[in-house]
Amino acid sequence: MARYRPSFPGSGPALVRARSGSGPLAAPSPPRPCRLRPGPGRGFRQGGRAGPCETGGMSYRVPQPVPQVILDDVRGAQKMLSGVSRVTPMEGSRHLSALTGSPVRFKCENLQRTGSFKLRGAYVRIAGLRPEQRAAGVVAASAGNHAQGVALASSLLGVRSTVFMPVGAPLPKVAATQEYGAEVRLHGQVVDETLAAAQEYADRTGAVFIHPFDHRDIIAGQGTVGLEILEQCPEVRTILVGVGGGGLAAGIAVAVKALRPDVRVVGVQAAGAAAYPPSLKAGHPVSVDNPVTMADGIKVGRPGDVPFHIIAELLDEVRTVSEDALSSALLLCLERAKLVVEPAGCSPVAALLSEPELYGGGPVVAVLSGGNIDPLLLQRILRHGMAAAGRYLSLRLRVADRPGALAGLLGVLSTVDANVLDVSHVRTDPRLGLTEVEVELHLETKGPEHCTEVARSLHGAGYTVIGG
Ligand SMILES: Cc1ncc(COP(=O)(O)O)c(C=O)c1O
Repeated sequence: MARYRPSFPGSGPALVRARSGSGPLAAPSPPRPCRLRPGPGRGFRQGGRAGPCETGGMSYRVPQPVPQVILDDVRGAQKMLSGVSRVTPMEGSRHLSALTGSPVRFKCENLQRTGSFKLRGAYVRIAGLRPEQRAAGVVAASAGNHAQGVALASSLLGVRSTVFMPVGAPLPKVAATQEYGAEVRLHGQVVDETLAAAQEYADRTGAVFIHPFDHRDIIAGQGTVGLEILEQCPEVRTILVGVGGGGLAAGIAVAVKALRPDVRVVGVQAAGAAAYPPSLKAGHPVSVDNPVTMADGIKVGRPGDVPFHIIAELLDEVRTVSEDALSSALLLCLERAKLVVEPAGCSPVAALLSEPELYGGGPVVAVLSGGNIDPLLLQRILRHGMAAAGRYLSLRLRVADRPGALAGLLGVLSTVDANVLDVSHVRTDPRLGLTEVEVELHLETKGPEHCTEVARSLHGAGYTVIGG
């Protein structure tokens, strides 16, 4: 098995260089990259005994030594998926192309059956089971996309599936999983408890546990996204893909690096749930405690063992993005590209928005990996995205306590076309003078420049803004 040694310790969180021997990085100087040196041994497949492994406090069995995945596996998966998964479309993004200086295209896995790429891996994994395993049925634990992928894949293959979901799972996701044919069991408040229940069910009933990312068949299935990208956009120079446990990125890297080693493959994690950077630095998977991000699809506390070794060897780098960048990316996909994309699915877009200067070297493909989002969450994230994009402005100012003073203030705002969402009028605060009132305004604006214009007009009309 390959051994990985960091060439120097201790670097910042935004960038970890995962592969040695590729071209120079156009990264800003801090944070420093962490280079990892892979040893020999790529391109072989191994079985082996099962060893215990920890994921976010939950134990599951990973074969030792860790199995490898090769291009032939991904090609085999592509044959299996013919007529099952959609060849999802590629869409151009003029906005991101102008921002980066390279043509940017979206690989729209949000338009895949079940709303994400997950059907690919789940189908290949379940199709690969022996007849007696199929007869025992399959079990999975998931609050989201994996649940739907397993449910549909099982139904298509005539295999009984049971999916454990956390008690608070959004109703639309529970309903979709049931409609695809799975028996849903709600168990546990957090995913670890749900996973434990699914594992216990597997041990008790003999059903096969379908892990969301830590299995070579899952990785081979997800890798078919990479083959499609090369077919649909042969001129691609960089592929950006969201990373949770790492199954999708690992599969894409196996396919792409075997056929086009010159193509840069960049993984993207949410800064609040980024287990790959410290793991790559350590040379083995390490856990992050309490991962926090709105992007639930990539909110994973520990890399999978199988994808980790592939990613350490084949990915060019892993970058992290902020929550503001994720919500701005979601807003951009909806507003400009007319695409509904969930937060995990638009993490590559968030990376492009955050550091566009890194992607000027030729055509970029951003994998929009999923589009399943609860409408209530969508509403909250859009609000967050609009605030992050300077489209909301909150102001506090004092005006004279006389008839018509508020109307005068609103008149100034109307001259600069600021849309008032909310006004509150406070006159009982002891800090106010007898002849003053405080007005708090929430405005909808057209962006940061418009915010400046609003502030300038208020100032010009003699108002003093005392807070936001
Ligand atoms: C939409 C979406 N994108 C990306 C990922 C990350 O996939 P992986 O765990 O294989 O890295 C997931 C995982 O569930 C997902 O649902």
